[in-house]
Amino acid sequence: MAVRRISQADEMVVRQKAKKVRDFAPSLKALGDDMVETMRAAPGIGLAAPQIGVPLRVIVVELPQVEGEEDPQRGKLFVICNPEVVKSWGEEEGDEGCLSLPGYVGEVKRASRVTVKGQDLKGKKIRVKAQGLLARALQHEIDHLNGMLFTARLESIDKLRRLEKAEGETELAI
Ligand code: CO
Repeated sequence: MAVRRISQADEMVVRQKAKKVRDFAPSLKALGDDMVETMRAAPGIGLAAPQIGVPLRVIVVELPQVEGEEDPQRGKLFVICNPEVVKSWGEEEGDEGCLSLPGYVGEVKRASRVTVKGQDLKGKKIRVKAQGLLARALQHEIDHLNGMLFTARLESIDKLRRLEKAEGETELAI
């Protein structure tokens, strides 16, 4: 496993559509491991393969445990190949940042609950039901696979602002 360099917003690889995973070879497991390690080291709560320079449809998401919070979605690692939102409900606006655009956050509207289907690293079908921050992170990562950054979803550029250190960047870096 290795921590990889994170591609930035001005790099081609994060601006293009990633390819579907068709070959569930052992090398895919190595990619997943590197993505998890890179996400945790950043630190961030999600990462898409194009962000480490690999144009494949693979995402990882993990919300850290928070003392006193009983959210069962926390502390669980999700590694999903070919993820797709198959159902979504509601809408909520919330702050979001991106590991490919450090130092900025913006208010983005997302579905409040989603069902995502995809495959694990061995090609087995999986389905994830998510709400709140987990739902937001999944939607953010799937956008990355389509070459889209959260800045493209802002209502206006006024919704983008510089992050102040006190705001707790870790929970927003996706
Ligand atoms: Co991002």
